Amino acid sequence: MKEFEPKILSKEELRRISSGINEEEILEFQKHSLNNFVEPLTVMEAKEPGSPWVKVMDQKGQFKEILDCTSMNWTLALGFAHPDVNYAALEQMKRLTHVRYNCLTPARAKFCNKLAEIVPGKLKGGKVILNNEGGGLANEAAMKLAMIASRGADHFGTFWHGYHGSSLITATLSQPLHAVTRFDSFGIGHFTRMPYPYCYRCMWNYKNGLYGEKDPDCNMECFQIVEKYLKGMAPKKMAGVILEPIQGAGGQVPAPPKWLRKLKELCEEENIYLIYDECQTCMWRTGKYFTVSERYEKERGIDVSPDMMTFTKAIGGGFPLGAMIATPKIRKTFTPTEEHTTFSSSPLSCATGLAAIKVIQKENLGENCEKMGNKITKRMKELQEIYEVIGDIRGPGLFIGVEMVKDRETKDPFTELVEEMILLAPEYNLYLGESMPILSARGELLMRNVLKIKPPLVITEEDTEFIMENFEKVLKEALNKVEK
Ligand SMILES: Cc1ncc(COP(=O)(O)O)c(C=O)c1O
Repeated sequence: MKEFEPKILSKEELRRISSGINEEEILEFQKHSLNNFVEPLTVMEAKEPGSPWVKVMDQKGQFKEILDCTSMNWTLALGFAHPDVNYAALEQMKRLTHVRYNCLTPARAKFCNKLAEIVPGKLKGGKVILNNEGGGLANEAAMKLAMIASRGADHFGTFWHGYHGSSLITATLSQPLHAVTRFDSFGIGHFTRMPYPYCYRCMWNYKNGLYGEKDPDCNMECFQIVEKYLKGMAPKKMAGVILEPIQGAGGQVPAPPKWLRKLKELCEEENIYLIYDECQTCMWRTGKYFTVSERYEKERGIDVSPDMMTFTKAIGGGFPLGAMIATPKIRKTFTPTEEHTTFSSSPLSCATGLAAIKVIQKENLGENCEKMGNKITKRMKELQEIYEVIGDIRGPGLFIGVEMVKDRETKDPFTELVEEMILLAPEYNLYLGESMPILSARGELLMRNVLKIKPPLVITEEDTEFIMENFEKVLKEALNKVEK
């Protein structure tokens, strides 16, 4: 296969598309962007190939380096511009960049086979559908398959604080997070939203649901509500129940594995398809295992595996890819066009996704994630002894949420502090993430009080030190500002 050389445009002209920008171009862009908020720093390039650090440029044209604890929306598991992933992309680009959705390519076949091999529990050896869009479409694919397989049921159980996408339907499937949509809840009649077990804020007043574990005395009364809905209180027969085993956008909230087990049993009893959205928790983000549900199976001996599972974020190695896998027990499949988009069989994303999986496996990056995650969590617990505002710290792995409160007794969310910290963090060479706010019917923004630390899995001990040192500095300065 020939190396490529430009034919029409000069190399310099082509290089400049991605490598340089001037003030005039930025001002012009601002006039034309329909997004009314674009962050002030322009993200330029990886500090080094495969680094968790990125070079950014401020509005005065000054460069600085940032350690990205958001992994750019929890996507760059291997850091910025990883050389192996990019090499796989180049090899694919030399041959093909696009095919029709029904075409088979080597990369598509290999990616699907690999996914079917690494998924946990009863999903192993299952059937995969891909898209070139992300998690929202993967969730819609799961809904469609559940509808087909349950012969006409078209109602879904979903959970408070859940997030599943921003299309008109997946936004309805999600907790109405009006930061994402101002639109009326399309098709709301197809969904019943149920309480999710948020142990730190237990409605039954069990006080010791901390650090991602339920209160040891808890009897899971919250489950009885779910049970009622699944056993008939929902207005229609449910085709499926969709949830994140650990909620991401909704505030890094883990469902206790025993609660998940009960849900699985109930779904089996009621012939309702159980769908896990592991869009954020896949790709070893939570530590040693490909998904978080696998951790529960392997470490606690609790099989919580669902009938379908959805993926996006890091699954494409930083390129756009969404995937859904269904257990081989579901015999139904889609017709040729029932589940497709123009770009749904992207050879490029399949190639980069497969390269990323192989690199993570070969380099044991799940172990690194676990180790670095434990370090950060341990240091964060030390900070918690000093700072009353750190209410709860939840992992596992590099899927860390830090819930900030005004008072540990009342657990009043300290939203202002979190917002201040997010703004300040880049000044200390960090990007931090935050939970999505919920707009109440009274117009208040609720619960944007969870800080997220989810850097690429490739971070080093030195990086964890940097994160924690600067996290504390950001916290101190933000506290001074908001307390004034
Ligand atoms: C758990 C979860 N599911 C689904 C989605 C939607 O994915 P996408 O934005 O790629 O449609 C997201 C995005 O943040 C997510 O966090």
